[in-house]
Order: sequence, then C-alpha cells, then structure tokens
Amino acid sequence: MKVFFVASEGVPFSKTGGLADVVGALPKALATLGHRISVFLPRYRSTLPGQPLPRVADLTLPFRPNLEFAAVENAGETQGVRTYLLSAPAYFDRDGLYQAHGQDYPDNARRFAAFCLAAIEFLKRDADPPDIIHCHDWQSALVPIYLRSLYRDDPFFQRVRVLFTIHNLAYQGLFPPPTLEAMALPSSLFTIEGLEFYGKVNLLKGGILYSDFISTVSRKYAEEIQTAEYGCGLDGVLVSRRDRLVGILNGVDYDEWNPATDKFLPANYTPSDLKGKEVCKAELLKRMGAATPQMDWPVLGIVSRFATQKGFDLIGEIADRLMAKELYIVALGTGEPQYEELFRQMAAHYPNKFLAKIAYDNALAHQIEAGADMFLMPSRYEPCGLNQIYSLKYGTPPIVRATGGLDDTIEDFDGKSGTGFKFHQYSAEALLEAIERALAAYREPTLWRKIVRNGMKKDFSWAQSARQYVAVYEQLAGVSRSAQAAAAEMSS
Ligand code: ADP
Ligand code: GLC
Repeated sequence: MKVFFVASEGVPFSKTGGLADVVGALPKALATLGHRISVFLPRYRSTLPGQPLPRVADLTLPFRPNLEFAAVENAGETQGVRTYLLSAPAYFDRDGLYQAHGQDYPDNARRFAAFCLAAIEFLKRDADPPDIIHCHDWQSALVPIYLRSLYRDDPFFQRVRVLFTIHNLAYQGLFPPPTLEAMALPSSLFTIEGLEFYGKVNLLKGGILYSDFISTVSRKYAEEIQTAEYGCGLDGVLVSRRDRLVGILNGVDYDEWNPATDKFLPANYTPSDLKGKEVCKAELLKRMGAATPQMDWPVLGIVSRFATQKGFDLIGEIADRLMAKELYIVALGTGEPQYEELFRQMAAHYPNKFLAKIAYDNALAHQIEAGADMFLMPSRYEPCGLNQIYSLKYGTPPIVRATGGLDDTIEDFDGKSGTGFKFHQYSAEALLEAIERALAAYREPTLWRKIVRNGMKKDFSWAQSARQYVAVYEQLAGVSRSAQAAAAEMSS
C-alpha cells in the first residue's frame, strides 16, 4: 500500500498533543509492515528552526482571484517513513501552531486551506497516486472536501481513497460562511447535507461526510460519539455513516516511552527491578521543590493540556479534602487560563504538597510518568488518551474516568487483578472515592507492586493497531473484505 498522511502536527517536527505522538509513531509501524508511507506536515517556526532543507517542489495553490505559491521541503527518511514539510511562511512561520495568547489565529481557515491544497497539488506531481490519503482532524478535513469539489473530475484521484481519523470531535474547525470563498470552495457546499452546521461552516463535518471511511482512536469513543451526550452536535451525522466508522485504539511508541531506556530519567528500571523508580521519585520531588520530601507519601502525577475536556474542575471541587491527605500532587500543563489559574492557586494554597509547573516540558513529562506513584486523568471525555498508557508502562497506575480510550485501556482493580482505578460518574465524589481506593491499595506494598507490575506487563505497541489500519486501507483500496469487519476481528 502507498499511503500519504496529511496532518497538522507530528513528532518530532511539531506537537501540541497526542495527535503528534500518533502521527510520529503510526507511520513507522506501517512502514515496518512493508507499506510505503509519507507524511505531509506544515513547517512551523518551531519545526527544525534554522535548519535548511532541500526544496523538492514549488506549488501553485488555486486560490481566487489570486493564485498563491508555496514550496515543499524534504525532511528526510526515518525508519522507512518520508516526511515532507510545507513551507508557507506567511501562514506557518508563527509562534503557535493554531493560536497565540489563547486565541485562535483569525486566518486558520485560510492557513489550513493552503495546507490541504498544497497536499493535493504536491501529490499530483508524483507519477502514481497513493492508494490512500490518511487525514487527521479538522485541519486536514479539507483534503476530502476538495477532492469531492474542486478536484472531482481530476483523473489522478479517481482511484484514491480517503480515510479520515477523528482524534477529538470537539475541535471542529467552525468558521463563518464567507470563509468558504476564502477557502476557494463553492457556496453550493453550504447546505445541511454539506458543510453547514448551525449557520457556520464545519470542516470536521465535511471530513466525516466526504471521506471514504472514518475512524476514531478507541472503540468506546466510536460508540460514544454516536450519542447526543458525546456527539458535539455531530452525532446524527456520525450515525448516518456508522457503517463506515470504526474505532482503532492508539498504540504508543515504546522507543520513546519506556522506563528501561528513557534518557530523560535519572535512573532506569524494569518490572523485575523497580529500584530506579524510587530514585526517579526522589529526584522529581526535589526538582519540583518539595521541602523535606516524605518518600512514603504517594505522588499523584498530572501531565496534560489544560482544557475542559480533561476534568480538572473535579480536582478543584475536592481540593481541601484531597490535600488534607498525606500525599503529593505533581502537575505539569498549560492551556486555558482558568485551569492555569486553578493550578497556580492550588500550589499557593497547599505549598510543599501541590507542586505545579505551568509549562510545556517534554523531559519533565517523562520524569513525572516515572517519579509519580499514580497518575490522574479524570477526563470528561477522552478519545483515546496516551498518558494513561505511558503510566502503565512506567509502573504508575492510573486513576481514570471510564470514558473513551481510558475505559478501553485500563482494567479496574477489583481487589485481585487490574491495572488502575476507574470511576464512572462525572463527579468530584466519584473521583475522590477512586483516589481513596488507590490510596488504600498503596498502603499494602505487596498488593501495590502487583498492580504496578500488571500494568507494566501490558503491551500497547503499535503493531496490532497498525494491522487494523492496514485492514481498513486494503478494504478501501478494494483488495480485501469489509473494513469494519476486518478491523473489528483484529481487535477482538
Ligand atoms: P491530548 O492529545 O488530548 O492532549 P493525549 O493523552 O492523547 O491527550 O496526549 C497528550 C500528549 O501531550 C502526551 O504525549 C503528553 O505527554 C503530552 N503533553 C501534554 N501536556 C504536556 C506538557 N505540558 N508538557 C509536556 N508534554 C505534554
Ligand atoms: C486527541 C485526544 C486524545 C488522543 C489524541 C491522539 O488529542 O484528545 O484523547 O489520545 O488525540 O489520538
């Protein structure tokens, strides 16, 4: 299979969240299975800063009334995956990927229209088309939209199929109607059967409607998004395409996230020798400024985007009762101002116990995974979630709300077996009850070690999920049977 990934972020070139981890790792796993994979990303200011790269194409983007020009650079080949970067400095040479000072860039529609047109124009220069274009989230949803409109009659794309992966249904790419023209799209697309959504243009809706197949990043989330509670207004559209929708759980990249080899840690460790984890805990508490660290108090770790999705309002609600206990919370994150403020206030109120860093810091993210005893993810919804899977590997049992990928990846500890602690209802009381269960288990060292090792033994590497994607690709390209059946069969 020849597969072309179009995405707005990917490790190691750019990252704001888990999408980048997926786009960094899934292509490698597919290449390992023998497929020809290229990845197309924007070149942001933070992408390989100051590093000149060979220019491999000059493109004309069919905007009207004035055409625009952009270039594609070759960022090389790693583990069989080629990466191409779109160089369009007017759109991407900026400090943020999508926003500045908490506000989306006002020209985001135009920026990602340029990106998607460039992806299509770049493909057309190749001698043979890919079998599959694999798009991710609203920023690349314009690829299927253009293929069904501007490029509808282009023979080059007649046999090309599009898989669209939803990583987060809440981010839809909503723009006012005049934006259609700025994206070089006909106004005829602005209908209820098309891109119209409560008076706005909805690009994610276009991605769902105009792609040949849709996937999302866990089985549970694939079900949830077909309900009014989790559907973000698109549940009806998703139900209408449910025979073309599948949930494929994300894997994780154990080359990057493995306590036995992690180069960000002060000491490495394995399930059979956990001594290094104690060193990581002591160093973490020191680094975060805990005075006279109590090594027998558990450390509850948080590494997250601060967004309403992540459920931190629940922690605010139980702050006093939680922080009265003998424990530390070590938190790392950035995002919406109200949550940054909440974490700052908690750090000020509970000095020496609530240790927070409001920042994006990859090394510290690894050190928290290793140095914490438990990991907190009380998400309102979670399409997949990667940190809880990293936590399992790092021997840091997660406390999670049973939603989306959190529910699919964590087995609730039932007194005998399990890998973490789950709660169901979205309430502060339910969260506190789950934390209390975890604390009780922690006080029994033999039992705790068992839970730790149960998690460390789990294997969420990409190989299995990559095979499920291949099954979908093959079905779409007409070389195998029903994509849904094939993917479902492989995941059972
Ligand atoms: P989401 O994509 O919704 O943010 P995921 O759990 O899928 O959630 O992925 C989050 C990724 O971003 C993880 O790799 C996590 O370590 C990383 N991350 C999130 N916030 C930070 C931060 N403040 N510093 C470093 N890494 C972070
Ligand atoms: C999104 C989701 C997260 C998921 C990630 C990668 O950012 O919020 O749950 O793990 O995409 O698919």
